[in-house]
Amino acid sequence: MPDALRDDVYRRPLATALERLGIGSGWRCVDVGAGGGDVSVALAEIVGRPGRVYAVDSDPTARDEAAAAAAAFSQVLAITQAAEDLVLPEQVELAFCRFLLMHVVDPAAVVRRMATVVRPGGYLVAQEPITSAGRVGGRALSMPDARHPDVGAILPALVRGAGLDIVDAWAEAPAGAGPGPVADYLAHLTGIHPGEDPVVLPPLVTVVGRREGGG
Ligand SMILES: C[S@@+](CC[C@H](N)C(=O)[O-])C[C@H]1O[C@@H](n2cnc3c(N)ncnc32)[C@H](O)[C@@H]1O
Repeated sequence: MPDALRDDVYRRPLATALERLGIGSGWRCVDVGAGGGDVSVALAEIVGRPGRVYAVDSDPTARDEAAAAAAAFSQVLAITQAAEDLVLPEQVELAFCRFLLMHVVDPAAVVRRMATVVRPGGYLVAQEPITSAGRVGGRALSMPDARHPDVGAILPALVRGAGLDIVDAWAEAPAGAGPGPVADYLAHLTGIHPGEDPVVLPPLVTVVGRREGGG
């Protein structure tokens, strides 16, 4: 488990996906909608100095945060760019996004754009929630600020629609009751403090897609 993900309640689906790929030293990756850069740093730990991680976000503040988080990793390049306009100086072995497509205007267009930067034989991994399938005290969660809070439910179709083969796809949700990282995450995400109520966070759908070709 990369150090950068130790406190991330959604770390397990990411670790499983990365294991599935066999990612290792020297891989080139892009983390689209990188936010504070937690996943970018985790990828940087794995690909090492021979590799490269492009941390892309449309918000310049996120670019600065990702750059600060990755200050010790010269293999991370933080870039301000909209996912819709994604262009990289080279193709990559892995194009990744998490909690991004739920916020963009056209998730299908963004997945298609991400697929264009994947080299033949490379992978696209997307992790997006089904927000309304989360529960607090048995009640469904909502996220009024997100454009597509349930985009996870159609994620396999989006990846297939971008011309990629689906290698693996599944859903996984952290759950808990009482104080702890799940309650803290919910409070951070929604402002709701669950107290002793049981919480099932939104299931995260992971899709591992592969571009045809390569060796
Ligand atoms: C909820 S955060 C997710 C951060 C990170 N991927 C993670 O899993 O921790 C969503 C990020 O996507 C970025 N974002 C939203 N729309 C975007 C777009 N059209 N292009 C690129 N980044 C975008 C936001 O600025 C924000 O940093």
